[in-house]
Amino acid sequence: MKAVRLLEYGGQLVFDEIPKPAIARDEILVKIKSTAVNHVDLVKASGTARQVLPIDLPWIPGHEFSGVVEEIGSDVAAYAPGDAVFGATSGMGAYAEYAAVKAAVIAKKPSNLSFEEAASVPVAAQTAWHGILTHGHLEKGQTILIHGGAGAVGAYAVQLASHVAATVIATASRDDEAYLNSIGASQVIDYREAQFEKVLRDKVDVVFDLVGGDTQKRSFLVLKEGGYLISAIQPVSQEEAAKHRVTGAMMRLAPSGDVLARIARLLEEGTIRPDVATVYPLQDAAQAWKDIAGNLPGVHGMSPSGRGEARRRSHGKIVLRVASGEHEIRTRAHELYLARGAQSGRELEDWLQAERELMAEPRRAD
Ligand SMILES: NC(=O)c1ccc[n+]([C@@H]2O[C@H](COP(=O)([O-])OP(=O)(O)OC[C@H]3O[C@@H](n4cnc5c(N)ncnc54)[C@H](OP(=O)(O)O)[C@@H]3O)[C@@H](O)[C@H]2O)c1
Repeated sequence: MKAVRLLEYGGQLVFDEIPKPAIARDEILVKIKSTAVNHVDLVKASGTARQVLPIDLPWIPGHEFSGVVEEIGSDVAAYAPGDAVFGATSGMGAYAEYAAVKAAVIAKKPSNLSFEEAASVPVAAQTAWHGILTHGHLEKGQTILIHGGAGAVGAYAVQLASHVAATVIATASRDDEAYLNSIGASQVIDYREAQFEKVLRDKVDVVFDLVGGDTQKRSFLVLKEGGYLISAIQPVSQEEAAKHRVTGAMMRLAPSGDVLARIARLLEEGTIRPDVATVYPLQDAAQAWKDIAGNLPGVHGMSPSGRGEARRRSHGKIVLRVASGEHEIRTRAHELYLARGAQSGRELEDWLQAERELMAEPRRAD
């Protein structure tokens, strides 16, 4: 199979031909359609955090995916070959044509999402779910402050908090204000212009920290006694938490098929929605990493753009499309074929040919 691999810490990503993974009894072999880029991919590859986030080299990055079940282990009952699924792997390995994943961490792909959209969901949405609901105990009628609300995780946190009828305040760049209002934030504080602790009139029940550093420190000032400060990015000072009589904790995502299935239902109902910024072919993973590195000073040997010249990245996830064009055409044709209940093989072949011709035509400017 084709896979993107890292051969040494801080090295280049290479597009290689390697053997397909074998599956254990409780695993599923997924033919991957799309995967998505996460900060942790770059951090692990850089080696800067190898004490806490070690990897075995050569290493295939990729923490989340959408795809189709190819083969199931003998202990797997919940899935069958041909099922469209998505999930976050407990290890890595999704920048590849196939991955072996535990059945317990995946769910059926929401039927209304493309494979590209579905691949963008598992890490960000589950991190948000666990951050604000499991660890933050957010309830109806409470107020939450989400730092980094327009980011991949933050946008799900805003939507989920709004879904449980909490009041949502987010810190973000001014350009993202309208977007955040459209997904449920009632107040957006521009972190470049204002200090949130000076702007907020009332204290909040929960702070979800996706920024860290000084932002995390200042968050104690805006929390009610008995509140929760949950960070997905760095440990929370227990001394400060005790001093302010709040609970402070850093969370790390533990993927769960049950939670993901609940997220899938919310996506299908249209209660929450995914946000894909850019799609690259898998072999252009290095370019995708350059895009995201601008937000992450010094990771993976890439120099960050200077603050003033930094290219403004729109919100949303960067997705890598794994399947080839021909594969996609066949899948779409097959879906159409099933949806129409068509019987004729001829009709499907004609449709395939028409699609191929359409894709081969140069795109006209409107
Ligand atoms: N613990 C876990 O299990 C876990 C899981 C997933 C992610 N994470 C971590 O969570 C963090 C967020 O991930 P993500 O995927 O959501 O990142 P992302 O998509 O890059 O979003 C980061 C957001 O933070 C905003 N931001 C930057 N500085 C800010 C500040 N001082 N105040 C308010 N907002 C600020 C950025 O806005 P601008 O672009 O406008 O500056 C951007 O919208 C990352 O550090 C990631 O590694 C942890």
